[in-house]
Amino acid sequence: MDTATAPLTEAELGARIEPLASLLRPGGPVVVLTGAGCSTESGIPAYRDAEGNWRGRAPVQGQEFAADPAARRRYWSRSILGWPYFSAAAPNAAHHALAALEHHGTVTTLITQNVDGLHQKAGSRAVTELHGSLHTVRCLHCTVRLSRDDIQKRLVADNPAYATARSTPAPDGDANTSEHVPEDFRVPHCEACGGVLKPDVVFFGDSVERAVVQHCMEAVANARLLLCVGTSLMVYSGFRFCRHAAESGVPIVALGMGRTRADEMLALKVEAPCGPALRMLADEIGAPGTTPI
Ligand SMILES: NC(=O)c1ccc[n+]([C@@H]2O[C@H](COP(=O)([O-])OP(=O)(O)OC[C@H]3O[C@@H](n4cnc5c(N)ncnc54)[C@H](O)[C@@H]3O)[C@@H](O)[C@H]2O)c1
Ligand SMILES: [Zn+2]
Repeated sequence: MDTATAPLTEAELGARIEPLASLLRPGGPVVVLTGAGCSTESGIPAYRDAEGNWRGRAPVQGQEFAADPAARRRYWSRSILGWPYFSAAAPNAAHHALAALEHHGTVTTLITQNVDGLHQKAGSRAVTELHGSLHTVRCLHCTVRLSRDDIQKRLVADNPAYATARSTPAPDGDANTSEHVPEDFRVPHCEACGGVLKPDVVFFGDSVERAVVQHCMEAVANARLLLCVGTSLMVYSGFRFCRHAAESGVPIVALGMGRTRADEMLALKVEAPCGPALRMLADEIGAPGTTPI
């Protein structure tokens, strides 16, 4: 059966969840690694489909963004349209269940590859944002940090004609709209020093800070279990924690729909949609309270 198209019955979901619940019942420390699949039920699309294939256009590369004014115009002229969708997204059952599992003491560290802040909105506290947050913008020159909401106000005031273009949401706060890059689009600059402003996220081609990776590696090595949720693990940045878990003798479990790069390394794979599956898991192991707050 194709899990991507045919919804599971409660009984089918229960049968898939039970082996995972058995692994989690003894308690923590459990490290969770989440990806874009955790937020698709909140309306933020993922990059890859269940086969691990790329679904849309190539995202901006970090070096290209820093060096090329046209790349920055392209980025911001789509981001002005993507931000209203992205910033309005609310946590779904998956985020709430993971927060409940943390309060229950089972999940001790949550590493997310997502940049949407939805785990914190749901109440998770032990969160490491591996790739930063789209809610903050940073000056590449003087390193001042600004709120993306404030930058949106500036973008809209400076580019009123572009703020209302027809679009649909795309991964990572991007939008699907015309491929044309407007020459007259006014890109925001740092008001303190005139420097280039960049979303405070790790773009493709950038690297994650060493101290952040180190912190996550230690948490993984000391865990009883690594649970990967809604991630294809195709990006090395997340996959490295699976490698480290395998080298440290920590069992790896994946929950999600589709192929992952770590399939050969998994102790258990649960093919199910994140929200319903995690809600049932939290209920099963006695960490309910996953209703939206
Ligand atoms: N929400 C966000 O912040 C966001 C969104 C898109 C991309 N990104 C970035 O892009 C990179 C993409 O890598 P990735 O591995 O996180 O994502 P990915 O797109 O490579 O993989 C997502 C996986 O989740 C599965 N999936 C989708 N919806 C699901 C659902 N409802 N339930 C269960 N599984 C589901 C897909 O089949 C796929 O296997 C990340 O590094 C991240 O920084 C972030
Ligand atoms: Zn500056």
